[in-house]
Amino acid sequence: MLIRTSTAAPAAAAVDMLGVAVTSPVKPAGAAAELDERLGGAISRLVSSREVRGEAGQITVLHPHGQGVKAQRVAILGLGPAAKADADSLRTAAATAARSLLAARGTTLALVADGLPLDPVEAARCLVEGATIGGYRFDSFKTRGDRPKPPRALTVLTSDRSVVAAAKRAGLVADAVNRARDLQNTPSNVLGPVEMADHARKIAAAHPHLTVQVLDERRMERLGMGAFLAVAQGSVRPPRLVVLRYAPPRAPRGRVLGMVGKGVTFDSGGLSLKPLRSMIGMKYDMSGAAAVLEATAAIAELKLPLRTISVVGATDNMPDAGSVMPDTVVTASNGRTIEITNTDAEGRLVLADCLHHARNLGATHLIDLATLTGAVVTALGDVHAGMMGVDQPWLDRVAAAGEASGDHVWPLPLSDTFKRMFRSDVADIGNSSTWGMAGPSYAARFLQEFAGEGPWAHLDIAGTADLTRARDYYPRGGTGYGVRLLVELARSLSEAP
Ligand code: BES
Ligand code: MN
Ligand code: ZN
Repeated sequence: MLIRTSTAAPAAAAVDMLGVAVTSPVKPAGAAAELDERLGGAISRLVSSREVRGEAGQITVLHPHGQGVKAQRVAILGLGPAAKADADSLRTAAATAARSLLAARGTTLALVADGLPLDPVEAARCLVEGATIGGYRFDSFKTRGDRPKPPRALTVLTSDRSVVAAAKRAGLVADAVNRARDLQNTPSNVLGPVEMADHARKIAAAHPHLTVQVLDERRMERLGMGAFLAVAQGSVRPPRLVVLRYAPPRAPRGRVLGMVGKGVTFDSGGLSLKPLRSMIGMKYDMSGAAAVLEATAAIAELKLPLRTISVVGATDNMPDAGSVMPDTVVTASNGRTIEITNTDAEGRLVLADCLHHARNLGATHLIDLATLTGAVVTALGDVHAGMMGVDQPWLDRVAAAGEASGDHVWPLPLSDTFKRMFRSDVADIGNSSTWGMAGPSYAARFLQEFAGEGPWAHLDIAGTADLTRARDYYPRGGTGYGVRLLVELARSLSEAP
């Protein structure tokens, strides 16, 4: 979306919709009071009659018809009580405006960023994110009907010049979030491992200081990636391992952010086949990879001064005569042997070789994103990703990046006690247990065997990557979870002492 900032008076914004947020109880002040006066007291009348209450999520649309207000529509957006209003309520208010604009078939939006119960830079950023993420629609595969188009341009109305750059940056990152959602929402038959690798090549070609390397099966075999290849062998579509390296000038020495993404372009479960209902939505099993790819693009676009290495493991997980069989023992690239007791626990097998590869390539600070377990959805729901890892300062930095960015995380335990669950009679470790407990922690402890030395964080994003029900500022479908967190984390690490 095109982002502009303007110091002009709200009444002068010639847009399809002008949005102004109010807290409850509503006392029109600032922009709202000015608009109220121009509209002959229309807003205060709606407040008196209790039609406008300022409740979170509420929207009331007025049509000024001239009256000294240039906008086609004025939207009063509720934030709820000022004491409770936070970054997410602001994003939700902006998304509500974008959605209403879309329904009215308008394309240009202006939002008032002054007088909000948040720091001005933060407020502007949230308005941009909310409108861009909330106005997103995926309709590439729809051929009929009068479908509304997402807002084309957003003007942030502010008297504070310091927000100009922040608003632009937020727009750039929110666009990356929506590109990740395009990848997520694209059906598996159209986006397979090869297409994902081609997309990574395009990203690299579009940005200076970004280089790409795509490994095929032969190269992976030479690296001894028996775990990853075991998952891939059941699909007629070949796997790809994608490496994106970002090496900008003037990056701090001795610090390389490694970002690893699970890119399972369809997870049927393999021979440990998923039941009917559980297989629906498994096109989203590449959401970690989508986030890593588009975050890398955004980091390069923002010219963040930090070296990064992104590793994406792209493969299908399919049942076939050539599929890996339960009871198989494979050797991962770090030399560890794994007994595959459940072919549906494929994410950890793919990540095992990807994590080891990222460390080998020089990642000092590692983070991986993966739709890894159904259990994390049961435990945490669809707002917080489960965070596990080693090195508390690193986990604190990841959690802070999550809070600052709107991609929330919540810690889950990781300790050696979970090693009990992956004891195998024949191999070093097994890839699944029959214990029926602590699924996310077991999976994380398994991954730890391959993450090498140094700070590492694992985000289980199975609950946050896609939504079957719209919530807050998100419509249904892919959320682009992780893009904003990774960009914020890269910024944070680049500035760390
Ligand atoms: N991709 C799934 C996890 C998943 C489940 C993501 C539901 C989104 C929604 C993963 O590969 C998987 O199948 N995990 C198994 C692990 C088990 C076999 C140890 C699971 O969670 O059931
Ligand atoms: Mn699976
Ligand atoms: Zn999976």
